[in-house]
Formats: sequence, structure tokens, C-alpha cells
Amino acid sequence: MEIKYSDIRKHLIKKDNQWDGEGLAFVTHYLQSQDNGSSKYFRKEAEEYLETLIHDLEFNYVLPFHFDIPFPPTENHDFRFIDLFAGIGGFRIAFQELNGKCVYSSEWNKYAKITYEANFGEVPFGDITRIDENKIPDHDILVGGFPCQPFSIAGVSKKNALGRHHGFLDKTQGTLFFDIARIIESKKPKAFLLENVKNLRSHDRGKTFRIIKETLKELEYHVFDEILDARHYVPQHRERIFIVGFSRKYFGEKVEFKFPEPPEGEKRFGDILESRPDPRYTLSDHLWGYLQEYARKHKAKGNGFGFGLTDVNGVARTLSARYYKDGSEILIKQGNGNNPRRLTPEECKRLMGFPEEFLIKDIGVSDTQLYKQFGNSVAVPVVRAVAASMMEIIRSHKKDNMEVLRKKRVKVLTQSQVKNVTASN
Ligand SMILES: C[S@@+](CC[C@H](N)C(=O)[O-])C[C@H]1O[C@@H](n2cnc3c(N)ncnc32)[C@H](O)[C@@H]1O
Repeated sequence: MEIKYSDIRKHLIKKDNQWDGEGLAFVTHYLQSQDNGSSKYFRKEAEEYLETLIHDLEFNYVLPFHFDIPFPPTENHDFRFIDLFAGIGGFRIAFQELNGKCVYSSEWNKYAKITYEANFGEVPFGDITRIDENKIPDHDILVGGFPCQPFSIAGVSKKNALGRHHGFLDKTQGTLFFDIARIIESKKPKAFLLENVKNLRSHDRGKTFRIIKETLKELEYHVFDEILDARHYVPQHRERIFIVGFSRKYFGEKVEFKFPEPPEGEKRFGDILESRPDPRYTLSDHLWGYLQEYARKHKAKGNGFGFGLTDVNGVARTLSARYYKDGSEILIKQGNGNNPRRLTPEECKRLMGFPEEFLIKDIGVSDTQLYKQFGNSVAVPVVRAVAASMMEIIRSHKKDNMEVLRKKRVKVLTQSQVKNVTASN
């Protein structure tokens, strides 16, 4: 009888507090990395954890098994990547589709971890600030949508005084970008893709972004950045900054990367709506009254814009992580004198361009958490397009290298042939 991942999961995940530690992360990472040389990073701790958990389950007994989850690990991959600030895995979907194998993930939110595991069969490791970069497997591409934080000058001078760090380590210490930088410095991936809110460029009068770019250049990467609007891919106005880097050591001094041209036109909001949404998503009289009153007051003062009743033929405003509070930024008109309703989590999933098979029903995650997760996530088709452009550079470089190698071999062969000919004469 074939063993399935869901059979193993039944033994593995039994208690709610298991999500807090790293045991599940070690075991699931180990199970994912059977055939790709990354397993050595996880095996010891995974075995120790299994021993404390269950006595009748050994790796040798469960392997091999079938991954019965929506996004199983890639077999016969072309490249390896790691997924930092993984959220619910928007980046992972796109890079797996391009035949990448994810060899490491990190995310500290318990509910995001639950959604991630339900879809990828892997529990991410937790707090990135506590992760030793040497414990991360080697990889070709690093991806991550990191939270934006200011870089404090005061912190810098104190560290300087102590004489502890130099360069970027000093300037970014105490921020989550610092953790990305130290992992890049140690693991030296061929390329990376980072994502953030559009305002990262103007944050702290441009200083934050300048330091980020300087740091990445100091680490010897060609750095490209662009603000992309998801509205060409999904019916949502969502501007995000994408930062792409290519290693100078690996690619040399010239990299002609271009961000993808957006497809023509825009998408239609009406196309992502469910035909019969549950009535519980309709706003209560109280909330609808409050939103109208709030909008009226602010309009009278001449500032801000209140709730957004979305045109089904247009695109929605940006779905934010606070959508769960009142849904005010994206509301849908309803007929028959009903109050407007908010989006259902399934509709949020479509608005972010997640595939239909992405699992959110009956996984033990509340609507509130799902709204937060999608509001924090990435528009998958945008990442898919950027990732495909990155892969063009990576694949063509590989091809060029193979060509150089082939020519070298031909040359060596010719020289030895010449020698043979000379010797026989
Ligand atoms: C902007 S979201 C990225 C979401 C992701 N790109 C996706 O597709 O869902 C940032 C994520 O970083 C996580 N995070 C913040 N601080 C963290 C830390 N110190 N260690 C690990 N994860 C962290 C948050 O919980 C959040 O899910």
C-alpha cells in the first residue's frame, strides 16, 4: 500500500502548541529534501524530534511516500530556492512552477504556517533573526517579501563605538533586511528577488532604500528595481516594489535584465466574484451605517476617501492586511435592498491570483487570519512574470557557459589530435 503525506501528517501534527517550536519544521523539511542533497541540514534534529513524538514511526518506515497536497515538491528540479518571510507561499508557487525546488522556508506566524503546510507539506522555520545562516542549505535563488523598517543612525554609532561590525552589517543591524543581507553574504545565491510596499523608495526620505541598494551592491550584486502594478494581471490596483539581484561573481560585469512588460489591458473585478456568496459576508446595518457616517464626515472635512464600492467592470483598491476589520476598502454592491458585502476569502484568493487548487477551506484557519494572509501576500501572476524574466537570464547564462565549455573541449581535442598527428609524422 502506498503511504501518503496525509497519513504521516496524522502522526506528526497532533497538538496545537507544536507550531511554536521548530520540530515540525525539521521533520517536514527533511521529508521534502529526500533526493536533493539538502537532507543533511535537517536529518539529525528531525530524528530527535520524531523520537520525542512517536516511537513507532521511523523515516525508513515512511519513505518513500506520495505527497497528496496541492503543491508537492518539484521532482527533477532545475534550480533551488529559499522562501523567506514566506507568508502563505505566493513566491513559492511561482518559482515551483518554473521547476524550482524550495529547500528552506521561514515564517513565524502560526496561522500562516498552517496554511503553508496545508498547501506545500512543509512547516516553515520561525523567527528569521534566530536562524543561523550556516544551517540553511545552498540555493540558487533567495526570495522574500520583507517588512519595511527604518534604519536607526543612533544604533549605528553605538555599534561602531563597540567596533563590532563594518559596512552593511552596521547600517542595517536590527532590521529584518539585515537578516536577508547576512544570509546573502553567507550563502551567495546566484540571484535574489525581494518585494516590498511601494513606499519603501520614499521611506525616511529615501534613506532606507538607498541603504538597501548600497548594501546589496556591496555584497557584489547587480541590482534592479521597479514598481509594478498588479492590475494588469489581476483586477486589483496593487503597486509593489520588486528588487532583483544577480551575482557579479557568477554572471560577470554585464547583466541585461529587464522587468516584464505588463500584458495589455486590465482585468475585470466581476470575474473573481462568487455567484452565491454566504450571506455572512453582508455588512450588518450597524457597520454599514458607521462606514457611511465616517465617509460623510471625512468628505465634509475634505480629506481621505472612505469605503470603496467596487465597480464590477473595473479593478479593486489594494487588499490590505486590515481588510478583516471592516472590509471597507473593497465592498460589493448587492441587489434586493441588501447592504453591501465584503469579499469572501475565496475571492481574496482569486484577487491575489492564487491558483484555484490553493487550499484554504477546512484547514483550521479563521476568515480573519485568511484575510490577513492574503492582504500581506503577493499577486502571484506578477511574481510569476518577474520570476520568468529572471530565469531567462539564468538559463541563457547557463547555456552560454555550456557553449564555452563545449568549445574548450573541442579545442583541447584538436590540440591533442594535432599532437598525435605530429607524433606520427
Ligand atoms: C509581507 S509578508 C510576506 C508574505 C509572502 N510574500 C506571501 O506570499 O504570503 C511578511 C511576512 O513576514 C513574516 N515575518 C515578519 N517578521 C518575521 C520574522 N522575524 N521571522 C519570520 N517571519 C517574519 C510575517 O509574519 C509575514 O507573514
